[in-house]
Amino acid sequence: METTKIASFDRVSELKAFDDTKTGVKGLVDAGVSKIPRIFHHPSLKLSNPKPLPSDLLRLKTIPTIDLGGRVFEDVVKRKNAVEEIKEAAAKWGFFQVINHGVSLDLLEKMKDGVRDFHEQSPEVKKNFYSRDFSRRFLYQSNFDLFSSPAANWRDTFACTMAPNPPEPHDLPEICRDVLMEYSQQVMILGEFLFELLSEALGLNPNHLKDMDCSKGLLMLSHYYPPCPEPDLTLGTSQHADNSFLTVLLPDQIEGLQVLREGYWFDVPHVPGAIVINIGDLLQLITNDKFISLEHRVLGNKATRARVSVACFFTTGVLPDPRVYGPIRELVSEENPPKYRETTIREYATHFNTKGLDGTSALLHFKI
Ligand code: OGA
Ligand code: NI
Repeated sequence: METTKIASFDRVSELKAFDDTKTGVKGLVDAGVSKIPRIFHHPSLKLSNPKPLPSDLLRLKTIPTIDLGGRVFEDVVKRKNAVEEIKEAAAKWGFFQVINHGVSLDLLEKMKDGVRDFHEQSPEVKKNFYSRDFSRRFLYQSNFDLFSSPAANWRDTFACTMAPNPPEPHDLPEICRDVLMEYSQQVMILGEFLFELLSEALGLNPNHLKDMDCSKGLLMLSHYYPPCPEPDLTLGTSQHADNSFLTVLLPDQIEGLQVLREGYWFDVPHVPGAIVINIGDLLQLITNDKFISLEHRVLGNKATRARVSVACFFTTGVLPDPRVYGPIRELVSEENPPKYRETTIREYATHFNTKGLDGTSALLHFKI
């Protein structure tokens, strides 16, 4: 145990030194490191599935891809089919990809270019945005949970709250300002459409989830995963479930996202033009487990170029909001009693953030 003590003492100063550089993981790569610092080592990393996938799980393949018909379903049957597919995916995987989602493919590429441009600009300019003050409208940092998680991730991120109060242009860095505004507006429209289909999938009125303010807040995280010299020793993002009602994730051609189902890691493949959608913890809570918030992670980047992604979380996060959420009345009964106590989004998000990505579910804290 003595060694753990010494290691943890060193660790805090190493974390601090890394944070003080204000240039994140990208800074380490630019400095030409060939070995990753110890703070990024994941001691018990099991990168592959412990055993070959049993045959009954082989048939699951991976998360489904659902055609949203450009968000205009010309006949009721097509819409009903999409609702059925979403219902099945949300209940079994909590994850699916959407195509024909109505957001222009050109905008998706521009958004990813904007993320790359921000992270690849001069460190001197970028440093001005580096902060751990989460009340800031826009902030850039490496590992939001750097000092609380057991191991750091090979990832830098910039974060911005886009709704309910959209930022003023001057709140955003010039280099990606316009595309952040345009993309987030499109994500809000897509999100509202998805909440309609999800409400129908629950047998509720199409406006039910929207009327509960599930689409009110939008937090946008733009991740940058530089190439990693020792990708097998670390992760891009540790195992976690999302702190949201719903997450709209813009993926990269470089794969690496995996979802954990029945104890096995499934790769999320690159589907050209697709957007990944996943159910967050808050939707699992209010649906009383009808929809599930699946745990997922991102592997260390083995490619020679950086992987980028944009995760848009439908949540008001830590913003003050008195509204209380518990399992939806229509979805519980005597045989299916509420599994979670009521909470506010702020209470839930504060618990999630304080805990950090430690491989356990933040929802457990709210179980009855
Ligand atoms: C997240 C997340 C996955 C990715 O931000 O919560 O899971 O591919 N991101 O970056
Ligand atoms: Ni996630």
